[in-house]
Amino acid sequence: IHIVADASEGAKAVADAIESTLRGAAGSGAVLGLATGSSPVPAYTELIRRHREEGLSFAGSRAFLLDEYVGLAAGHEQSYHRFIRENFTSHIDIDDAAVVSPDGSAEDPAAEAAAYDEKIREAGGVDLQILGIGSNGHIAFNEPGSSLASRTHVVGLTQGTIQDNARFFGDVSEVPVRALSQGLGTIRDARRIVLTASGEGKAAAVAQLVEGAISARWPATSLQLHPEVLVVIDEAAASQLE
Ligand code: F6R
Repeated sequence: IHIVADASEGAKAVADAIESTLRGAAGSGAVLGLATGSSPVPAYTELIRRHREEGLSFAGSRAFLLDEYVGLAAGHEQSYHRFIRENFTSHIDIDDAAVVSPDGSAEDPAAEAAAYDEKIREAGGVDLQILGIGSNGHIAFNEPGSSLASRTHVVGLTQGTIQDNARFFGDVSEVPVRALSQGLGTIRDARRIVLTASGEGKAAAVAQLVEGAISARWPATSLQLHPEVLVVIDEAAASQLE
């Protein structure tokens, strides 16, 4: 657990983990697992800076996203495919075709989910997975009650999540009701995990993640089963730790 003084120290800690993974992979190219959402964006911004100012290169590396809405084409302005490009990968020297996400427009989402796990396996697995956490302890779209062993699968979004997301879509009727998400088992297959969170709103979930009993009630607690997880949080997110 790394408690940071401010957002810039948090961004540097997460960026350092990604940079050392890139350097460690050298010739073969790193396989990164990328989260969308607001939490990792400062780290992505810091990595774009290191790329531009310090020559940090992502050439030869690959990236897999955690999740995607079902029913949105890749180019849709709310797709995670587009989010990661706008906030990170279009600004670095990673091959665009090597930035892979579940295909939200696939005709058979269940088949797409199974194919996605296979793609990750074929790439040799994820070296470093970046994660955020929901205030209810969700990771990716694995909401409370999700199987701790789950693989990439189709999830129905809760009414709460649909309502929360309505602000991005203009009208609640436009919000997708399903998503494709890596499962908790898929996420734990990554060799190393860095989870980052900030703010009071994440404090209860962070306390469960670090100190709670492993339970589907708080999906992030399943990360306790993983041998190498770095949690980068600010004081507010750490405020309910004992
Ligand atoms: C993102 C994702 C989500 C977010 C979580 C936290 O790909 O799968 O689980 O990590 O909802 O979101 P932010 O970072 O916006 O608070």
